Amino acid sequence: MTRPANVPGTAPRTMRELRIAREGKRRAAAKVDGNPLREGLRLERVPDPHVMVLFGATGDLSHRKVFPALAQLWRTNLLPQDWMLVAFGRRPYDDEAFRAEIGKSLDQWSRVKLEPEVARQFLERITYHQGDFADDAAFDRLAARLDEMDREHGTSGHRLFYLATQPSAFPLVVGQLGRTGLDHEVHGGGWRRIVIEKPFGRDLDSAKRLNREVGKVFRESQVYRIDHYLGKETVRNLMVFRFGNGIFEPLWNRRYVDHVQITMAESIGVEERGSFYEETGATRDVVQNHLLQLLSLVAMEPPATFEADALRDEKVKVLRAIPEPTRAEVARSAVRGQYGPGWVGGEAAKGYREEHEVDPESETETFLATRLQVDDWRWSGVPFYLRAGKRLPKRATEIAIQFKDVPHRLFERAATDPEPNLLAIRIQPDEGILLRFGSKVPGLGLDIRTVTMDFTYGSAFNTDSPDAYETLILDAMLGDASLFTRADEVEAAWTIATPVVDSWLDGPAPDFPNYAAGSWGPEASDALIEQDGRHWRRI
Ligand code: BG6
Repeated sequence: MTRPANVPGTAPRTMRELRIAREGKRRAAAKVDGNPLREGLRLERVPDPHVMVLFGATGDLSHRKVFPALAQLWRTNLLPQDWMLVAFGRRPYDDEAFRAEIGKSLDQWSRVKLEPEVARQFLERITYHQGDFADDAAFDRLAARLDEMDREHGTSGHRLFYLATQPSAFPLVVGQLGRTGLDHEVHGGGWRRIVIEKPFGRDLDSAKRLNREVGKVFRESQVYRIDHYLGKETVRNLMVFRFGNGIFEPLWNRRYVDHVQITMAESIGVEERGSFYEETGATRDVVQNHLLQLLSLVAMEPPATFEADALRDEKVKVLRAIPEPTRAEVARSAVRGQYGPGWVGGEAAKGYREEHEVDPESETETFLATRLQVDDWRWSGVPFYLRAGKRLPKRATEIAIQFKDVPHRLFERAATDPEPNLLAIRIQPDEGILLRFGSKVPGLGLDIRTVTMDFTYGSAFNTDSPDAYETLILDAMLGDASLFTRADEVEAAWTIATPVVDSWLDGPAPDFPNYAAGSWGPEASDALIEQDGRHWRRI
């Protein structure tokens, strides 16, 4: 496949040419995806020409996620014609050697295999810039190089900085961008944005410090903090489901909902990330961000508009309505666990303490179950149960809205009672939404059985969903911050998670390992919900 519109030197120059080219790209995108049904569904927007600077370009995240997502955007003509990427890294490479490495990663990690010609064109847009983050000269050279690129490629001073480095390097890189003035948006001189990967801090204090450092250089509107869960198709659909349909919202409150369960189960262990995970644990790794984000999308009020700040204001209100857990509350409502040896998917799995780069006496939690309360008018008295863990029996992320039972049992003579209604939103895998209700069993008697209505993305749309990184990177390029977390939002989430991890510091040593790999977590997790007369949904 060829992309004549992207050949340098043939770029359209007048507005009309630009419009025609964009329309062509949109049509081509629909064709490339091989799905004519997509045509007309959404008018694709193409970002301004710009240079993207990727810090930490040689790291695992860049290879597995960032480059494959960019290549897919390129392949479907969603990147501008005048787009260039500067890969900033410490290791020595020349452009050719670096492109060859990326080519291999694309083969390994791309969601859709790239046509060789498309891959070649994509790789041509990438240049490598070697430098140490502490080296002023490397950043001075970068600034000069970016100016040169503006002249050669018509990138108009627009720049997207992407921090995929170790978190400890974030302040250093941000400081360097400030020192060289690369953050400055001068009138008519192009936009400057910065994307920051997670983890954003490791507790409330460090998150505040990092926000301060970033805020010394960039305005909040220039900052895009990534939580990749927000880019997932099913998570984005949560808002459409709630606010694009009339029938669910009237039931979405304490009057009809008994409780909410949010589960993020992973069958994998910590893989090769032992040293990272030792410093992190489940609470910091996925609960402070992914699970609290899901909770705020489920619990928030409808925003007045779909603008980024209107949306984020509502999410922040939810997080602020969750009382900061006291030590006694953590002891009552949070259960931590760590996996020991066991079996997952028919294969023997080692215990966490035997994993690579893990302390044999580690007290890091690989599982957390907790009960939270959202103290506002809509949710007062409705518990939100959250659980997340590694080495559970399967990979499944799900939000279950458990409705209250009927007020009066009319069918007393039925052999079985119908279970209360339930709405299960499957975030992944097998993405879809299921509604459970009671139905009469056909026949002369009056037996009732629980049945389900099930919507699955696969059969309804017959198309692959984009990877979360494709969605998020494209949004940052377009200047749409709706799916990124704001400074106050990250801090509000840490206000809930920090007391949990802190309260464990000076308490007694945990009885780890306390669940076998391949089980649904420690027994205390079942007890946590059962003491309220409820049980975890079997997924
Ligand atoms: C990451 C965590 O944020 O999310 C990982 O650091 C976890 O530990 C991953 O495995 C899960 O992401 P996904 O998209 O596979 O659910």
